[in-house]
Amino acid sequence: MPQTHTSDFLIIGSGIAGLSLALKASQWGRVHLVTKRAIQDSATDNAQGGLAIVTSDEDSFEHHILDTLNAGAGLCHEDVVRRVVTQSPARMQDLIQWGVRFTSTEDGGPAEPGFELGLEGGHSRRRILHVGDYTGHAIEQVLVERVRENPNIQVYEYHFAIDFLTPGHLKKSDVTEPREARKWLEGASPETMTEPPAPSNSVAGAYVLDVEKGEVHTFLARATAVCTGGAGKVYLYTSNPDIATGDGMAMAFRAGARMANMEFVQFHPTCLYQPKAKNFLISEALRGEGAILKNRTGERFVKRFDARGELSPRDIVARAIDAELKRAGDECVFLDITHRGPDFIRRRFPRIYERCLAFDIDITAQPIPVVPAAHYFCGGVVTDIRGNTSLPRLSALGEVACTGLHGANRLASNSLPEALVFAHEVAEAWKELRDVPYVLSANDVPPWNPGHARNPDELVVISQVWEEVRRFMWNYVGIARTTKRLERARRRIELLQNEIQEYYWDFHVTPDLLELRNIAVVAELVIRCSLARHESRGLHYNMDHSETNDAGWKKDTFVEKGLGNGNRELGAGSVRIGFQSPSAAQPS
Ligand code: SIN
Repeated sequence: MPQTHTSDFLIIGSGIAGLSLALKASQWGRVHLVTKRAIQDSATDNAQGGLAIVTSDEDSFEHHILDTLNAGAGLCHEDVVRRVVTQSPARMQDLIQWGVRFTSTEDGGPAEPGFELGLEGGHSRRRILHVGDYTGHAIEQVLVERVRENPNIQVYEYHFAIDFLTPGHLKKSDVTEPREARKWLEGASPETMTEPPAPSNSVAGAYVLDVEKGEVHTFLARATAVCTGGAGKVYLYTSNPDIATGDGMAMAFRAGARMANMEFVQFHPTCLYQPKAKNFLISEALRGEGAILKNRTGERFVKRFDARGELSPRDIVARAIDAELKRAGDECVFLDITHRGPDFIRRRFPRIYERCLAFDIDITAQPIPVVPAAHYFCGGVVTDIRGNTSLPRLSALGEVACTGLHGANRLASNSLPEALVFAHEVAEAWKELRDVPYVLSANDVPPWNPGHARNPDELVVISQVWEEVRRFMWNYVGIARTTKRLERARRRIELLQNEIQEYYWDFHVTPDLLELRNIAVVAELVIRCSLARHESRGLHYNMDHSETNDAGWKKDTFVEKGLGNGNRELGAGSVRIGFQSPSAAQPS
């Protein structure tokens, strides 16, 4: 039976952002946390590198700020960079208090007590806190334990959020997908809306699919946060886990949220090249410890592209590998750390060592075959410095958000601290919302109406379209782009969007169908933002506009649903694209 679940705060997603927000917000009220698979199924759990935080006397906030701004290629919001860098040490203390134990210098033998600090591309100082090479897993485990023992937090695993609920959906059929609005209108009466009425785009909660029962429930809250992570699965090759299908980005876009910088997709230079190893990252920390990249003939080729070699920012290393693979017609390049000796390698990189050995690659004795893969979305749902989106009562944090920290290229290991800092900010903002009236009450929202949907008869349609999207995104919208390829991708995604929309309305919703619907929206946003930017900057490299043009394009790309006529429908509406300088880029 479909049910309505009401809480003070609704959190969607169970990585570092969602879990740490849940722990903090549980001080002010009751939290419902929904997550589409098991609680630990998150990108956080896969993070190897660590957290870039200033803790050493040889480092300073100014150095970390400058490194972040340099990587971001002119699009970082300096106020956000300062906030995240300076607040991160306090948030590190939260983690330690919750029970995370970072690797210390003493773990490697007698040494001065202190954190063992790693180095990664673009960092001018050693500042990466880590737990071996399984930092994310260690953090996720601790946070899950704390959440599970917290009586104010109720976790709903295998619950897939479909769409946000807003009063606008109930009142006005022209602000959302017409058929969806019709569904919601059946049985809803605007007169029963909560008084005083919240703005029509306020987020009241979400419709959520209980995956095991196949039922859609209504979740209502005073405030909602989307923490669903990134969208690496939009690409054929990715370092991301299967859950990274851009669900929160697509939901927020459909609900009318402002999105930004979707063209800036970070490709990690080194994922294990081994057909049976699904999505296994070879951490940048190896290059920080001296690993070198070689081509098939043994040449150390990256220095041909940038004098900084293997520790150049990621966009440069990924492009160098991509160019080298295309030039030589090879399938992979090689990362060699053998000169550091077996003891060091096994102690510092235990998980990577074990995992590679399982594929008969002994990284203490032979180079590792690697290729670049989609890794991190620098764009996403626009937020201000407190995590507020352009939709009242909706916050966004973690990879789903575009806070202004990363600009056009994320500095390695800046994202876990960003999630923690924003979780703290959002929790503080929610303190003020603990007594506000609900945007919608249970009586306002009709139960999910499946209409005439039936059980899907041809699941092959989903797998076919999914494969097609991911392949043309890789081939046409990947590391090096051209306008012609982007146009090809745009034509294809437009055709596929129509098919997906039809399928969506004709059949009962399933996780696969919801994920496909979401990756198609994110793919189209990436294509459209890429086409709109007529220059190359940071992670966006268009060979037809290969120069960086600060005079014309030192601006964030904004994209949101347009309400006017004449624009083409994108998944859930027409699209408006604009540009704004980073200093002015806050939700309106
Ligand atoms: C890595 O370990 O290379 C990933 C770190 C990151 O993406 O921040």
